[in-house]
Amino acid sequence: MNRIALLGIGLLVMLTGCNREGREVYLAAGCDECHGVNLEGTRTGGPPIAGTRKHWDVDGLLLYFANPDSVADADPRLQELRSYYESGMAPLSWADPEGRKALARYVRRW
Ligand code: HEC
Repeated sequence: MNRIALLGIGLLVMLTGCNREGREVYLAAGCDECHGVNLEGTRTGGPPIAGTRKHWDVDGLLLYFANPDSVADADPRLQELRSYYESGMAPLSWADPEGRKALARYVRRW
């Protein structure tokens, strides 16, 4: 019983730990300017990200962050989304690969 409780606490710490790094990158990279502080989207900047995890895995997101234009060009759903906003999705200029992965995991949690 105790061992299970400890495992639970360990898992929780791990999960919130990952989440914190992803959240930090999300804010530091300025994703919130277009997608809102809580991934709810903004009127002219970008769509809500919350609830879109069914469309993405982590590798797909990493590709998209690196080159949003070519990924969106090949995806009619993203093209249509793009037409509602002032500009397209911005490429991510964040060098640290671990930070990029943490961001992708953060975005996929919703
Ligand atoms: C200049 C505004 C802008 C910024 C900054 C921006 N985005 Fe976007 N984002 C968009 C727009 C517009 C779209 C709609 C699709 C497109 O343009 O490719 C989008 C789409 C997305 C999607 C896909 C949503 C879906 O429905 O599948 C994700 C995920 C995403 N952005 C994550 C991010 C992350 C993470 C950051 C920070 C690194 C970021 N965006 C920065 C404007 C922005």
